[in-house]
Amino acid sequence: MQRTLVKDALNATASSNAILLQGWVRTRRDAKAFSFIELNDGSCLKGMQVIVDATLPDYGNVAQANTGASIEVHGKLVESKGGGQKWEVVAEKFTVLGEADNTYPLQKKGHSLEFLREIAHLRPRSNLFGAVFRVRSRLAYAVHQFFQERSFHYVHTPIVTASDAEGAGDMFRVTSLDLANPPKTADGKGVDNAQDFFGKKTFLTVSGQLEAEIFASALSNVYTFGPTFRAENSNTSRHAAEFWMIEPEVAFCDLNGNMDLAEAFVKHLIRDAKEHCAADLEFFGKFVDKDLLARLDFVLEKPFVRCSYTEAVTILEQSGKTWEHPVAWGANLQAEHERFLTEEHFKCPVTVYNYPRAIKAFYMRQTDGTAEGRETVAAMDLLVPGIGEIIGGSQREERLDKLRAGMALHQLNEKDYWWYLDLRRYGTVPHAGFGLGFERMLMFVTGVANIRDVIPFARTPGTADF
Ligand code: 4AD
Ligand code: MG
Repeated sequence: MQRTLVKDALNATASSNAILLQGWVRTRRDAKAFSFIELNDGSCLKGMQVIVDATLPDYGNVAQANTGASIEVHGKLVESKGGGQKWEVVAEKFTVLGEADNTYPLQKKGHSLEFLREIAHLRPRSNLFGAVFRVRSRLAYAVHQFFQERSFHYVHTPIVTASDAEGAGDMFRVTSLDLANPPKTADGKGVDNAQDFFGKKTFLTVSGQLEAEIFASALSNVYTFGPTFRAENSNTSRHAAEFWMIEPEVAFCDLNGNMDLAEAFVKHLIRDAKEHCAADLEFFGKFVDKDLLARLDFVLEKPFVRCSYTEAVTILEQSGKTWEHPVAWGANLQAEHERFLTEEHFKCPVTVYNYPRAIKAFYMRQTDGTAEGRETVAAMDLLVPGIGEIIGGSQREERLDKLRAGMALHQLNEKDYWWYLDLRRYGTVPHAGFGLGFERMLMFVTGVANIRDVIPFARTPGTADF
């Protein structure tokens, strides 16, 4: 007999004489003539109420059906007499597949998120994490849907790489050398990386952008969606050492087209979650962030604000606030500034664009006609309330001479980027792209405040369990 998922059983349009459910016991209540068991199988937030009659031959098995045990129930799907649910299952055959004793850590509700992180192997069985990871799965699908429907091609960019895509140096080394006894260079002073596995120094990628640019220069519209790694030692609620990023790259596109795409993309993901994860979002609205649903609606309704970096600095200077990090033209915007702009000043998502050239990556397109000392690049960051930056992107420098100047400014070696420079030698075109941090988007859509709670197994400084 085929198993029915709880989700489908709860949405049934008619009763059934024979149904098979399999899942885990959330709660059990024993009355005189019956036991009531809530069976959850993760297909949706809700569980199915299962009623086991004390006269059933299998009734003896019920005593082993403790919270956390896995069970299998053959029975009838009938209309529920009690309030709260439309359907319930009256058991005819009741089996405990795997017992769980009273050491099962998810006995009671109300565990702290910190505690649940320590049992990341069991937390998907809680309401909160079940909901988070269903939304994560759905939005991963919606990412592909958004781009595939717009004729973007999905490119698998490498995870092991020899190039620093951001030129920021926050990279994890990948090596098969014996660290205690590495081969030495001829002069005996340094490590001979030519003897390493790949014949050179390699790292985990920080971004698939540069490779995506290669493919955009051939297939026009592409996107990546994969894990990226940053060895920045930032212990914040928004930073992970391993996170997933979506990076579209579009040929024949400028900064405005890029901002339009980013806005449409973010709105698509929110709309999709609202449509396909309604029960889970409602749960977040009740138990995680009571303003969540109103905020998501609000974000969908209004166009995002666009504000140049220079305007943003003026707003911050005139805000009358005292900042931990001083505001001045040329300095990077810090989280406190970003959050002020989006949460207090504009009270809506804001795309800040045209940042000072010196503080942004080497590949960003220099804005024509900016005054010396105030040179900017066609960068954009999308800031949202509660989180700050969720998207970073830019129009790329497609002019060979300007790109070389940018690399010199950031003290990068042209030899390491020869293929990237070639894209500007052969059929170069204006192009643009951005990266959306998938976990930050999930934080925004679920209201969950810590990045560690929207990724199945968080990799942060000092933590790589599971
Ligand atoms: O702004 P970033 O560093 O931009 C890039 O990597 C570009 N190559 C993207 C592109 O233009 N194709 O990162 C992009 C986004 C950020 O806005 C943020 O949402 C997320 O990636 N991100 C992180 N998320 C979690 N933990 C971290 N340590 C993150 N660093 C960046
Ligand atoms: Mg950024």
